[in-house]
Amino acid sequence: MESHKSFAEIIQFIRTVFGAPEGFIALHEPRFNGNEKKYLIDAIDSTYVSSVGQYVNRFEEMIKEITGARHAVAVVNGTAALHMSLLLAGVEHGDEVITQPLTFVATVNAIVHANAVPHFTDVDIDSLGMSPAKLDDHLSTTTTIKNGKCFNKFTGRKIAACVPMHTFGMPLRIDEIAVVCEKYNIALIEDSTESIGSYYRDKHTGVYGLLGTFSFNGNKTVTSGAGGAIITNDEMLGKKAKHLTTTAKVPHPWAFVHDAVAYNYRMPNLNAALACAQLEQLDAYIQNKRALAETYQHFFKTLGITSVTEIDHAKSNYWLCSILMKDREERDAFLAYSNECGVMSRPAWTLMTKLDMYKDCFKGDISNAQWLEDRVVNIPSSVRV
Ligand SMILES: Cc1ncc(COP(=O)(O)O)c(C=O)c1O
Repeated sequence: MESHKSFAEIIQFIRTVFGAPEGFIALHEPRFNGNEKKYLIDAIDSTYVSSVGQYVNRFEEMIKEITGARHAVAVVNGTAALHMSLLLAGVEHGDEVITQPLTFVATVNAIVHANAVPHFTDVDIDSLGMSPAKLDDHLSTTTTIKNGKCFNKFTGRKIAACVPMHTFGMPLRIDEIAVVCEKYNIALIEDSTESIGSYYRDKHTGVYGLLGTFSFNGNKTVTSGAGGAIITNDEMLGKKAKHLTTTAKVPHPWAFVHDAVAYNYRMPNLNAALACAQLEQLDAYIQNKRALAETYQHFFKTLGITSVTEIDHAKSNYWLCSILMKDREERDAFLAYSNECGVMSRPAWTLMTKLDMYKDCFKGDISNAQWLEDRVVNIPSSVRV
């Protein structure tokens, strides 16, 4: 790319697209143009502002309807959803949990919160998410099955779960990942925190796994301020998820009896009120974001720059629109230029395998993740009003 000339053209285009000839343009900011204030005031007036209230229940019904999952449990954030899902899937102290190196740190932190050890396998370049072919290949050379359980031949640890992540809302080849997990008897938990409203083969992300997780943090497609959700089709796990996220209180008209060491992870009604109003607008938001993604794709094509687009059978929420720079040098030059101009852009995360806490974890070949880390740039992707 003819760097500064093209960079200026890109910035100009983004400013036009957002109708903002000057001033700061954020990467992703929330919009509150629906029933948000009404529902929040209603929740305050009801006095139910903590973890009991009609909006928490309504939120769970909405998540079930959107995802098609049989059970949904509202929690305080996506990290808690992941932590709880790992426990529900039976992950035990010292087990290994496989995930991808290209993810937000919370995915890996949650594995450690569950007292397990992270283990990394590569992503596909086109989907940005865990590669089923590389997972299968990696497991075939590094694991052995004993008593029906999968063990890492090199560390001796049981591989209890696999957590692929639908990066920036782009669905990965989750049906193929499910087949590989089944072959090795590894529980599948989807980190679908970024992909509310994204579908693969007409099924919502998060429903392919034993459990799926969502985040409603302020930077996501829809927000509850802070919040998350766990989904599952397994009735026992659904019930257990609710019990363990609400301090395992045994239902009783007045007595306090708790029957497990549990968590205070339930989403407060105030946050759920905000979430309900936001979810009412999800379809409109996604239409808006998909139109933005298409506009970007046409434009970047004229500059010879590759946009990240959904793979076959995937329908993405385009939470964040991404482009691929020629190399790391060009990536860094663009990031410096655009942020200097007040147009926010961000790289993908530094690979988890490079962070001090996780650099010694077991891993396979992760060359695709490295290739993407060097090139991915996320550009402003908010809903345009
Ligand atoms: C991939 C991924 N996993 C987990 C999380 C954790 O979600 P939260 O911030 O709601 O705890 C996030 C989002 O922040 C995320 O992007």
